[in-house]
Amino acid sequence: MKVTVVGAGAVGASCAEYIAIKNFASEVVILDIKEGYAEGKAMDLMQTASLNGFDTKITGTTNDYSKTAGSDIAVITSGIPRKPGMTREELIGINAGIVKTVSSNLIEHSPNVTLIVVSNPMDTMTYLVHKTTGLPKHKIIGMGGALDSARFKYRLAEALDAPISDIDGMVIGGHSDTGMVPLSSQATRNSISVSEFISDDRLQQVVEDTKVGGATLTKLLGTSAWYAPGAAVSSMVQAIACDQKKMFPCSTLLEGEYGLNDICIGVPVILGKDGIEKIVDIPLSEAEKAKMQESAVGVSKTNGLLEV
Ligand code: LAC
Repeated sequence: MKVTVVGAGAVGASCAEYIAIKNFASEVVILDIKEGYAEGKAMDLMQTASLNGFDTKITGTTNDYSKTAGSDIAVITSGIPRKPGMTREELIGINAGIVKTVSSNLIEHSPNVTLIVVSNPMDTMTYLVHKTTGLPKHKIIGMGGALDSARFKYRLAEALDAPISDIDGMVIGGHSDTGMVPLSSQATRNSISVSEFISDDRLQQVVEDTKVGGATLTKLLGTSAWYAPGAAVSSMVQAIACDQKKMFPCSTLLEGEYGLNDICIGVPVILGKDGIEKIVDIPLSEAEKAKMQESAVGVSKTNGLLEV
């Protein structure tokens, strides 16, 4: 199992680190355009191997895609992150060109690769990869919902004063401050609705805090977050690499599911060896359906800015 991570920034490096620590991949290649940067991150990470107990071989390369040849999975984290006060959508101008070049270079050297898109605005970047690469739709996966759901569970655990392992919940919709749809009516603590434990107002606060989860961290850190994004990607990579058939909300091309067409947006999917093996079309309440439609309008608007 060979995994390439494009972009040796904080998200890419965290992702490579978590993949290595989970010890399921034989090889991770980190690629970056900045001279020596990926090589440095790879060497630093390899020097943790004896301490953290992993055998994954991590190497770095400065923009030499031949080193990525034969990758089973590639993660695209390249592009600029947002600064405090920016929306993810504002990154489209620069990141669209980068994602287009990176995805075509990856596929040239690994025609059977499964791509996980992390660069923002993620749903639109995932759509761009569909429009420009010709990869089958099950091999193009946008990472957003896995991260947003982890942030939702964190906020729920905080509100309920419960351990996170007691909590289950999912966020679908667009990966944006306004487009996320946390499914609060379906969130549970040990299979009991969270609304049994907290008031409607507190639950609404959890929803609002979840939606601006990334923006809150960007304000605190001065750039976008990396630990949870890296962990979310590594879990998705593991689900594919180990054929786990795990369900994550991911951005995927919809063709009628959830009443949507010709759009990539977060919905629950099953991840296994073939990438997205199934889109899980769960029934939504009328209110959730309306929010999903509204979210799709926002993503489509951003897609409209693409020159494809
Ligand atoms: C975030 C970025 C990865 O939400 O979109 O932190």
